[in-house]
Amino acid sequence: MLNKNLCELIKIKKDHCESMSFIHAQCFPYDIWSKQTFEGFYLDVYGDIIGWLANYEDESVGFILAKQAVDTADILSFAVLPNFQGRGIGRQLLDQLIKNIEIPIFLEVSVENKLAIHLYQSMGFEIMTTRRNYYDKLGSQSSKDAYLMRL
Ligand SMILES: CC(C)(COP(=O)(O)OP(=O)(O)OC[C@H]1O[C@@H](n2cnc3c(N)ncnc32)[C@H](O)[C@@H]1OP(=O)(O)O)[C@@H](O)C(=O)NCCC(=O)NCCS
Repeated sequence: MLNKNLCELIKIKKDHCESMSFIHAQCFPYDIWSKQTFEGFYLDVYGDIIGWLANYEDESVGFILAKQAVDTADILSFAVLPNFQGRGIGRQLLDQLIKNIEIPIFLEVSVENKLAIHLYQSMGFEIMTTRRNYYDKLGSQSSKDAYLMRL
């Protein structure tokens, strides 16, 4: 098993949009976000983009990306390559984000994504409400509802 300490966390820059797009596509094949989608987050003048990329040896294997506005932050995307999941990298990334953001953090997660919900709750996030049909546009066959969670 990979030791989580072997994953180097790199502060995300705009140059990393291609790596994020690649990882996102492996994790969300039904909702691919292009490099341009990620670059678009940097054009939003109402928030600062903050995040980390997890590197194992020379490979980028996961990332977490958030937007910080005046008094709240939102997790925009969070993913670890399928072959590297379940080894502590997601927890390492989320922990890094939490340590560096001092305002309330919000996120949306599919009500069916039990592993992610378990991870968020174990880090102190609480379910605020259910957003019905949040994932409607994705054409998913399963539930389209999302929990809004807050730390
Ligand atoms: C959610 C995600 C980012 C978590 O990353 P990860 O590296 O797999 O997470 P961790 O290894 O740190 O594990 C976190 C917890 O979930 C459990 N877990 C995660 N993936 C698992 C797997 N494949 N099998 C078994 N348990 C798993 C772990 O047991 C751990 O709980 P524990 O520490 O209490 O044992 C990752 O699974 C992922 O990319 N999923 C697909 C994309 C996604 O759903 N993103 C979140 C959208 S809101």
